[in-house]
Amino acid sequence: MNKIDLISEINRIKKEKNAVILAHNYQIGEIQDIADFVGDSLQLAKKAKDIKQDLIIFCGVTFMAESAKILNPNKKVILPVLDAGCPMADMATAEKINVFKKENPNLKVVTYVNSSAEVKAVSDVCCTSSNAVDVVEKLGAEKILFAPDKNLGTYVDEQVEGVEVLKWKGFCPIHERVTVEDIDRARSEHPGMEILVHPECPVEVFHKADFVGSTAQILEYVKNSELKGFIIGTEMGILHTLKKENPNKEMFILTEKLICENMKKTTLEDVYKALRDEENEIVIEGHIAIKANEALERMLNL
Ligand code: 13P
Ligand code: SF4
Repeated sequence: MNKIDLISEINRIKKEKNAVILAHNYQIGEIQDIADFVGDSLQLAKKAKDIKQDLIIFCGVTFMAESAKILNPNKKVILPVLDAGCPMADMATAEKINVFKKENPNLKVVTYVNSSAEVKAVSDVCCTSSNAVDVVEKLGAEKILFAPDKNLGTYVDEQVEGVEVLKWKGFCPIHERVTVEDIDRARSEHPGMEILVHPECPVEVFHKADFVGSTAQILEYVKNSELKGFIIGTEMGILHTLKKENPNKEMFILTEKLICENMKKTTLEDVYKALRDEENEIVIEGHIAIKANEALERMLNL
């Protein structure tokens, strides 16, 4: 099928089956364009919770589709490409977190949503990159373990006072590719432009940036800024919406290394097949779903 036919079939089946398509800001442009809603992890989690349609096609990676299922368990959630995972999420296991908790009994576990349902289930509260500082501040704990992202953990540690933050050793292999040299090169190639980065970048990188935020916060920042040029230090899929929303502003990616292979796996063909066949359904074991839901709901309540 050609692209036009694929899009019209997607829209036809979507209507027929009362389905909705959610997509993350890192998805390829074509997917973002056919989605009913595009957002960052927090926006997608909130949206998923309130979805009325019967079927959710989640264009993102596993942990995001799992969060949608956990927050709205009566809906059928499909991840179009089953092996679209997140290597950072795989860097923490529930078993190892439990061992850590036993060795360090007087702390709360704050888990980034980029984690498996099992890890969320053994956590006290979840957070995303846009609310991590807020969640830790409002939690009121004296000591926390922040898992799995050591970079976001350090960012939180630097922003929040009076909380001891122990960090898991996980990281995003994509954002970890960014170097201080990339920042220096961008500054000399594009003087006057601001550098906006995601807090998953290495600490020395976000220290040299002009703004640090989640994908939605970067989009918001550019929209509200008077400036005409920006260097973007997060996965390049975000440039699609950035350029669409800001046709008169110039945007450059900080480095071509910022491409998440897993986020790029989903194609229009995959979405069409997901709608047609309803395969790759997200299923989460009952007691894990209940415990993970508590951690996610606590985040939304905080
Ligand atoms: P956001 O929550 O900022 O969308 O980030 C998700 C993610 O996977 C970043 O790599
Ligand atoms: Fe995971 Fe990094 Fe890809 Fe985000 S960009 S989904 S953290 S691997």
